[in-house]
Amino acid sequence: MKKIIIGNWKLNLDHLEAIQLFQKLNYSLNNDVDKKIDIVVAPSFTSLRSIQTIIEADKLNLFLSSQNVSEFVEGAYTGEVSSEQLIKLKVSYCIVGHSERREHFKETDESINLKVHNLVNKKITPIICFGESIEQRNSGKYLDYIIKQVDSATKGLRKDKVDEIVFAYEPIWAIGTGETASLQDIIEVVSEVKKFIESKPFYNEEKIKFVYGGSVSPNNSEEILNSNIINGALVGGASLDVDQFVKIIESIEL
Ligand code: 13P
Repeated sequence: MKKIIIGNWKLNLDHLEAIQLFQKLNYSLNNDVDKKIDIVVAPSFTSLRSIQTIIEADKLNLFLSSQNVSEFVEGAYTGEVSSEQLIKLKVSYCIVGHSERREHFKETDESINLKVHNLVNKKITPIICFGESIEQRNSGKYLDYIIKQVDSATKGLRKDKVDEIVFAYEPIWAIGTGETASLQDIIEVVSEVKKFIESKPFYNEEKIKFVYGGSVSPNNSEEILNSNIINGALVGGASLDVDQFVKIIESIEL
Protein backbone atom coordinates (compact mmCIF):
# COMPACT_ATOMS: atom_id res chain seq x y z
CA MET A 1 0.00 0.00 0.00
CA LYS A 2 1.24 3.49 -0.88
CA LYS A 3 2.51 5.34 2.19
CA ILE A 4 1.25 8.81 3.05
CA ILE A 5 2.99 11.71 4.76
CA ILE A 6 0.81 14.59 5.93
CA GLY A 7 2.21 17.91 7.11
CA ASN A 8 -0.13 19.57 9.59
CA TRP A 9 0.90 23.21 9.60
CA LYS A 10 -1.59 24.03 12.39
CA LEU A 11 -2.05 27.77 13.13
CA ASN A 12 1.13 28.89 11.38
CA LEU A 13 1.99 30.82 8.20
CA ASP A 14 -0.01 33.45 6.34
CA HIS A 15 -0.82 32.63 2.73
CA LEU A 16 2.38 34.21 1.38
CA GLU A 17 4.54 32.21 3.77
CA ALA A 18 2.53 29.10 2.95
CA ILE A 19 3.19 29.58 -0.78
CA GLN A 20 6.91 29.95 -0.08
CA LEU A 21 7.09 26.84 2.06
CA PHE A 22 5.06 24.83 -0.43
CA GLN A 23 7.24 25.88 -3.37
CA LYS A 24 10.40 25.05 -1.45
CA LEU A 25 8.94 21.65 -0.62
CA ASN A 26 8.11 21.01 -4.25
CA TYR A 27 11.63 21.91 -5.41
CA SER A 28 13.21 19.79 -2.69
CA LEU A 29 11.50 16.52 -3.60
CA ASN A 30 13.68 14.18 -5.65
CA ASN A 31 13.28 11.21 -7.94
CA ASP A 32 9.55 11.15 -8.48
CA VAL A 33 9.12 10.48 -4.78
CA ASP A 34 5.68 12.09 -5.05
CA LYS A 35 4.60 9.29 -7.38
CA LYS A 36 5.51 6.63 -4.84
CA ILE A 37 4.35 8.35 -1.67
CA ASP A 38 1.25 10.47 -1.17
CA ILE A 39 2.49 13.81 0.11
CA VAL A 40 -0.14 16.02 1.69
CA VAL A 41 -0.02 19.46 3.27
CA ALA A 42 -2.65 20.82 5.63
CA PRO A 43 -2.43 24.62 5.77
CA SER A 44 -4.89 27.06 7.32
CA PHE A 45 -8.11 27.72 5.41
CA THR A 46 -6.71 31.08 4.26
CA SER A 47 -3.92 29.35 2.30
CA LEU A 48 -5.90 26.58 0.62
CA ARG A 49 -6.79 28.57 -2.48
CA SER A 50 -3.22 29.82 -3.04
CA ILE A 51 -1.75 26.34 -2.81
CA GLN A 52 -4.50 24.81 -4.93
CA THR A 53 -3.65 27.34 -7.64
CA ILE A 54 0.02 26.26 -7.62
CA ILE A 55 -0.89 22.55 -7.68
CA GLU A 56 -3.18 23.10 -10.66
CA ALA A 57 -0.93 25.47 -12.60
CA ASP A 58 2.15 23.26 -12.24
CA LYS A 59 0.21 19.97 -12.37
CA LEU A 60 1.85 18.81 -9.17
CA ASN A 61 1.34 15.43 -7.65
CA LEU A 62 0.95 16.84 -4.15
CA PHE A 63 -2.30 16.91 -2.20
CA LEU A 64 -4.20 19.36 -0.07
CA SER A 65 -5.82 18.73 3.28
CA SER A 66 -7.79 21.10 5.44
CA GLN A 67 -7.40 21.05 9.21
CA ASN A 68 -11.10 21.15 9.93
CA VAL A 69 -14.58 21.17 8.39
CA SER A 70 -17.99 22.19 9.65
CA GLU A 71 -20.36 19.65 11.09
CA PHE A 72 -23.06 21.57 9.20
CA VAL A 73 -23.74 21.39 5.48
CA GLU A 74 -24.84 24.98 4.85
CA GLY A 75 -26.86 27.81 6.32
CA ALA A 76 -26.68 30.32 9.16
CA TYR A 77 -23.46 29.11 10.82
CA THR A 78 -21.17 32.12 10.92
CA GLY A 79 -17.49 31.30 10.65
CA GLU A 80 -17.90 27.74 9.41
CA VAL A 81 -16.44 26.10 6.29
CA SER A 82 -18.34 23.27 4.62
CA SER A 83 -17.18 20.09 2.90
CA GLU A 84 -18.80 21.40 -0.31
CA GLN A 85 -16.64 24.53 -0.15
CA LEU A 86 -13.55 22.38 0.43
CA ILE A 87 -14.17 20.00 -2.45
CA LYS A 88 -14.57 22.99 -4.77
CA LEU A 89 -10.99 23.90 -3.79
CA LYS A 90 -9.85 20.36 -4.69
CA VAL A 91 -9.13 19.56 -1.08
CA SER A 92 -8.54 15.79 -0.98
CA TYR A 93 -8.18 15.21 2.78
CA CYS A 94 -9.40 16.75 6.01
CA ILE A 95 -8.08 16.26 9.55
CA VAL A 96 -10.91 15.52 11.98
CA GLY A 97 -10.96 14.96 15.71
CA HIS A 98 -7.47 16.28 16.38
CA SER A 99 -6.85 16.36 20.13
CA GLU A 100 -6.18 20.10 19.94
CA ARG A 101 -9.69 20.62 18.60
CA ARG A 102 -11.22 18.24 21.12
CA GLU A 103 -9.46 20.09 23.94
CA HIS A 104 -9.56 23.77 22.97
CA PHE A 105 -12.77 23.83 20.93
CA LYS A 106 -14.68 21.20 22.88
CA GLU A 107 -15.30 19.00 19.86
CA THR A 108 -17.34 16.00 20.85
CA ASP A 109 -17.48 12.47 19.46
CA GLU A 110 -20.88 13.39 17.98
CA SER A 111 -19.65 16.47 16.12
CA ILE A 112 -16.63 14.54 14.85
CA ASN A 113 -18.94 11.85 13.48
CA LEU A 114 -21.04 14.50 11.68
CA LYS A 115 -17.88 15.97 10.15
CA VAL A 116 -16.73 12.54 8.96
CA HIS A 117 -20.10 11.99 7.26
CA ASN A 118 -19.98 15.41 5.60
CA LEU A 119 -16.53 14.62 4.25
CA VAL A 120 -17.25 11.16 2.88
CA ASN A 121 -20.43 12.50 1.28
CA LYS A 122 -18.21 14.83 -0.78
CA LYS A 123 -15.47 12.21 -1.37
CA ILE A 124 -12.96 14.01 0.82
CA THR A 125 -10.81 11.52 2.74
CA PRO A 126 -11.13 12.03 6.49
CA ILE A 127 -7.95 11.78 8.54
CA ILE A 128 -9.55 10.64 11.78
CA CYS A 129 -7.37 11.38 14.81
CA PHE A 130 -7.53 9.53 18.09
CA GLY A 131 -5.22 9.04 21.02
CA GLU A 132 -4.99 8.95 24.75
CA SER A 133 -3.73 11.39 27.38
CA ILE A 134 -0.86 10.44 29.63
CA GLU A 135 -3.34 9.86 32.48
CA GLN A 136 -5.35 7.44 30.36
CA ARG A 137 -2.19 5.61 29.33
CA ASN A 138 -1.00 5.32 32.92
CA SER A 139 -4.41 4.08 34.06
CA GLY A 140 -4.06 1.15 31.65
CA LYS A 141 -7.50 1.91 30.12
CA TYR A 142 -6.16 3.62 26.99
CA LEU A 143 -7.22 0.94 24.53
CA ASP A 144 -10.86 1.12 25.67
CA TYR A 145 -10.77 4.88 25.34
CA ILE A 146 -9.26 4.76 21.85
CA ILE A 147 -11.74 2.16 20.61
CA LYS A 148 -14.58 4.35 21.86
CA GLN A 149 -13.17 7.33 19.96
CA VAL A 150 -12.86 5.31 16.75
CA ASP A 151 -16.28 3.73 17.18
CA SER A 152 -18.00 7.11 17.66
CA ALA A 153 -16.17 8.80 14.81
CA THR A 154 -17.14 6.10 12.31
CA LYS A 155 -20.75 5.42 13.36
CA GLY A 156 -23.10 4.96 10.44
CA LEU A 157 -20.42 4.75 7.74
CA ARG A 158 -21.04 2.23 4.97
CA LYS A 159 -18.67 0.75 2.43
CA ASP A 160 -20.68 1.96 -0.56
CA LYS A 161 -20.34 5.58 0.62
CA VAL A 162 -16.77 5.55 1.89
CA ASP A 163 -13.82 5.72 -0.41
CA GLU A 164 -10.64 6.10 1.63
CA ILE A 165 -10.14 6.68 5.36
CA VAL A 166 -6.92 7.54 7.14
CA PHE A 167 -6.79 6.72 10.85
CA ALA A 168 -4.20 8.72 12.74
CA TYR A 169 -2.96 7.53 16.11
CA GLU A 170 -1.76 10.61 17.93
CA PRO A 171 -1.10 10.04 21.63
CA ILE A 172 -1.63 13.43 23.27
CA TRP A 173 1.50 13.07 25.38
CA ALA A 174 3.63 12.77 22.23
CA ILE A 175 2.29 15.85 20.42
CA GLY A 176 4.79 18.71 20.36
CA THR A 177 6.71 17.23 23.30
CA GLY A 178 9.66 15.62 21.56
CA GLU A 179 8.54 12.36 23.11
CA THR A 180 7.53 9.68 20.62
CA ALA A 181 5.50 6.57 21.24
CA SER A 182 7.64 3.46 20.87
CA LEU A 183 7.11 1.34 17.81
CA GLN A 184 5.75 -1.32 20.12
CA ASP A 185 3.16 1.12 21.59
CA ILE A 186 2.12 2.22 18.10
CA ILE A 187 1.78 -1.33 16.81
CA GLU A 188 -0.29 -2.34 19.84
CA VAL A 189 -2.79 0.49 19.32
CA VAL A 190 -2.97 0.22 15.55
CA SER A 191 -3.45 -3.57 15.68
CA GLU A 192 -6.24 -3.18 18.21
CA VAL A 193 -8.04 -0.51 16.15
CA LYS A 194 -7.61 -2.57 13.00
CA LYS A 195 -9.09 -5.62 14.70
CA PHE A 196 -12.01 -3.50 15.90
CA ILE A 197 -12.91 -1.97 12.55
CA GLU A 198 -12.51 -5.19 10.55
CA SER A 199 -16.08 -6.16 11.39
CA LYS A 200 -17.54 -2.72 10.63
CA PRO A 201 -19.74 -2.14 7.57
CA PHE A 202 -17.34 0.46 6.12
CA TYR A 203 -14.25 -1.73 6.35
CA ASN A 204 -12.28 -2.14 3.14
CA GLU A 205 -8.73 -3.31 3.67
CA GLU A 206 -7.38 -1.65 0.55
CA LYS A 207 -8.84 1.74 1.36
CA ILE A 208 -7.84 2.15 4.99
CA LYS A 209 -4.55 3.57 6.13
CA PHE A 210 -3.05 3.94 9.58
CA VAL A 211 -0.64 6.73 10.31
CA TYR A 212 1.18 7.83 13.44
CA GLY A 213 1.56 11.40 14.70
CA GLY A 214 3.41 12.83 17.67
CA SER A 215 6.91 14.36 17.50
CA VAL A 216 7.77 12.62 14.24
CA SER A 217 11.20 13.80 13.12
CA PRO A 218 14.06 12.57 10.94
CA ASN A 219 15.46 10.95 14.09
CA ASN A 220 12.60 8.51 14.53
CA SER A 221 10.84 8.39 11.16
CA GLU A 222 12.85 5.56 9.65
CA GLU A 223 11.83 3.07 12.31
CA ILE A 224 8.18 4.16 12.39
CA LEU A 225 7.61 4.50 8.66
CA ASN A 226 9.16 1.26 7.56
CA SER A 227 6.99 -0.90 9.74
CA ASN A 228 4.47 -2.96 7.75
CA ILE A 229 1.45 -2.04 9.82
CA ILE A 230 2.01 1.75 9.68
CA ASN A 231 1.18 3.44 6.41
CA GLY A 232 2.56 6.88 7.12
CA ALA A 233 2.83 9.85 9.43
CA LEU A 234 0.98 12.98 10.46
CA VAL A 235 3.74 15.49 11.09
CA GLY A 236 3.31 18.75 13.00
CA GLY A 237 6.37 20.85 13.92
CA ALA A 238 8.80 19.14 11.56
CA SER A 239 6.54 19.81 8.57
CA LEU A 240 7.24 23.55 8.91
CA ASP A 241 10.90 22.89 8.14
CA VAL A 242 11.24 21.69 4.56
CA ASP A 243 14.61 19.99 5.13
CA GLN A 244 13.23 17.98 8.03
CA PHE A 245 9.99 17.19 6.26
CA VAL A 246 11.81 15.95 3.16
CA LYS A 247 14.14 13.84 5.32
CA ILE A 248 11.08 12.24 6.90
CA ILE A 249 9.62 11.51 3.46
CA GLU A 250 12.92 10.12 2.25
CA SER A 251 13.29 7.84 5.24
CA ILE A 252 10.66 5.59 3.68
CA GLU A 253 12.35 2.66 1.96
CA LEU A 254 10.90 2.43 -1.52
P1 13P B 1 4.09 17.35 16.34
O1 13P B 1 4.70 16.60 15.18
O2 13P B 1 4.53 18.78 16.41
O3 13P B 1 4.28 16.60 17.63
O4 13P B 1 2.51 17.42 16.09
C1 13P B 1 1.84 16.26 15.80
C2 13P B 1 0.46 16.59 15.38
O5 13P B 1 -0.34 17.03 16.17
C3 13P B 1 0.12 16.40 13.97
O6 13P B 1 -1.24 16.52 13.77
